[in-house]
This record gives sequence, structure tokens and C-alpha cells, in this order.
Amino acid sequence: MTSHNLPDLDTLVSEASTDFSSRVLTWFDQHGRKHLPWQQGVTPYRVWISEIMLQQTQVATVIPYFERFMEHYPDVAQLAAAPQDAVLHLWTGLGYYARARNLHKCAQQVVEEHGGQFPSSIEALEALPGIGRSTAGAIASLSMGQTAAILDGNVKRVLARHFAIEGWPGKSTTLKQLWQCAESLTPSKRCAHYTQAMMDLGAMVCTRSKPKCGECPLSDSCAAYHQGNPLDYPGKKPKKDKPVKTVQLLMLRNGAGEWLLEQRPATGIWGGLWSFPEIDSDTDVERHWHTQYQQTLVVQERWDSFRHTFSHYHLDISPVVADLTSEVSEVGERANYWYDVHQPAALGLAAPVKQLLKTLQQLQPVAG
Ligand code: ADE
Ligand code: SF4
Repeated sequence: MTSHNLPDLDTLVSEASTDFSSRVLTWFDQHGRKHLPWQQGVTPYRVWISEIMLQQTQVATVIPYFERFMEHYPDVAQLAAAPQDAVLHLWTGLGYYARARNLHKCAQQVVEEHGGQFPSSIEALEALPGIGRSTAGAIASLSMGQTAAILDGNVKRVLARHFAIEGWPGKSTTLKQLWQCAESLTPSKRCAHYTQAMMDLGAMVCTRSKPKCGECPLSDSCAAYHQGNPLDYPGKKPKKDKPVKTVQLLMLRNGAGEWLLEQRPATGIWGGLWSFPEIDSDTDVERHWHTQYQQTLVVQERWDSFRHTFSHYHLDISPVVADLTSEVSEVGERANYWYDVHQPAALGLAAPVKQLLKTLQQLQPVAG
């Protein structure tokens, strides 16, 4: 079958949805987590605090922090009234202090603008500091009995794999597809269990580097499992293209057939190594040399440029071969060395310079 005969993602998702959620819920009944502290005495406040704490921190680390936080601030009004320093102090060790400051701000906003009750619409929840679409969905589904989708890192991974959704989830088109999946799969019955189940499935079965597909209730219908490449999903953040810098390297020969090397400054690329003089790519070499040093050189050859890659950029090097027409021993301010390719000196050479000298050695007949 060719690809245009395959049903589109929407069709796949809606056909799969009832079956998908019922398998997830059956798995949850047997394996899901039901004894986490924030699953006891569930309130929007407790769920909210736990979700914020869990955003970048593991469950096992969060548990004691959560317990301690609840002892100090059992409800949103007490949190709102607390000094910020005290809140930050309780947060010490969880990191990301912007989260703690937002948490405090959010509590004050809930008190001042919502009479101390978390609002029940997703939109109003999302308008609060530090609460994004997924956290709003988690609060609404886990603590308010609403049908609301979540899409945290765990759920993104499960959905990207199950539906073979390509692309990095930070990209808007990919994110949109994932949200569409999440929304249409979320069941109206037992939504709280389904929400917890999807997080648990991602954390316990469909893990980042070693998914346990053999224990997964979704393997029958999982596209990545059938393709044999779950680890390819979700797509990785594209690496930024490295910038390209272009330079000319001047291979300058004197009357004795020696080549001018100069020692690079201690800092910067090739620090302290010996190199051919580097000249901006859009500079006229002959004119530049005359202006700088009152010496005349004649360009003989221009070699094809080649690329040398550093960790942060590409250097495209255009080698220029030139002859000095007058006898000169010292050039410029940097230390000089006139290099004889047939009697190589033990100098620290920049890699592309070494390569170019080797080529020169092969081209240049032995004198005499
Ligand atoms: N990560 C985010 N929310 C969670 C929850 N409710 N249970 C376990 N892990 C979570
Ligand atoms: Fe993840 Fe494997 Fe389950 Fe697919 S079958 S959802 S890859 S654990």
C-alpha cells in the first residue's frame, strides 16, 4: 500500500480512541499509582502544588517536599499570606526558583481574584501564573471531575510513539498534532484515572530510553513498536546550524622557497599555534599586503576552499598561494617562521595548516 492510501492521523486517532482509553484504564486498575500523597484528600490546591513540583523533578524527590509544604501551607489562603522568603525556603532543593515565585503569585491571585477557589475553566486556570495548558488540564481532570486533556513530557512520548508522530514537540506543528491526539483520546468517563494512567504509563512503561513494550497495553496498536523504532520518537530538537566564517589563508613563499608562518595570539582559535596569515575573505590580498607591510607579493594560485569545523562554527578556508617579490625576513608584529617543507621544523601547527603544508610538500620539487 502506498502512503496516500493510509488513513490520516485524525481518522486513526478517532477510530482508536475508545479502545485506546479502555486499554489504558484497564492497565491503570492493575498497575497505576494510587497511593501518591497528592492522590489522597484530592483538592485543586494539592494537585496544583504537586503538578508544579513534578514539572522538573522526580516523584520520589517530590514526596517529602510535598508533605512538608502541606504541613506549612495546608491551603491556598495560607500560602498566599506567607512571606515569599518562607515559601522559597521550603522550595530549597527543588530548583527552578521562578516556579516557587510564580506559585506564590498564583496563590495570591487565586485569593484576590477568585475568592480563594481555583477557577474551574481551563482558560481561567491557564491565565494564572505558572499554569500552562497541560497543568490546567491536570488540575481540572484530577481534582474537578472534568474531561480535560493533558500533554506533559510523559504523555507526549507515549502519543508520539503510538501514532508515530514525527518532529520535535517544541515545534508548533508537532505540538498541535500531539494536542489533537491528546484531546480526542481523552475519555469523558473516568478522566481522572485516564490522566493519571497516561502519566504513569509514560513514567513506568513507555520510558525515555528503555520502553517496556512487552508490558505495554498499547503495543498492539503502537506504530513505533511495529516499526521497531520507539526510540526515534519523539523527534529531537534540531541542532542549530553552525555559523560559517570564511577566510583566506595566505601561503606566502620567499625567494628560497620557504613559506611564511606566524604564531597566533595565545587566546582565540589555534591559540599559540603556527599558521599561515589569515586575511578577511573579501580583502584583496595583494593590495592588503602592500598597504600593511609595504611589500609586494604576487598571487599565483587560488586553491579550492575547504571547511574546517570547530565546535561552534565552520571555517571555510580559501588558500591563496603567492610569491614575495622582494627579500624580506620579518613580516608584521607576530613571531615569524619561514618554513621549509623538506626540512619541517617541530612547530605546533593548526590542523588545516598542517594539511596545506603537506600538500605543498607533495607539489614542491626538492630544491637543488
Ligand atoms: N508527574 C506529573 N504529575 C504526576 C502525577 N499526578 N503523578 C505522578 N507523576 C506525575
Ligand atoms: Fe511505548 Fe512501546 Fe507502549 Fe509503544 S508499545 S506506547 S513504544 S511502551
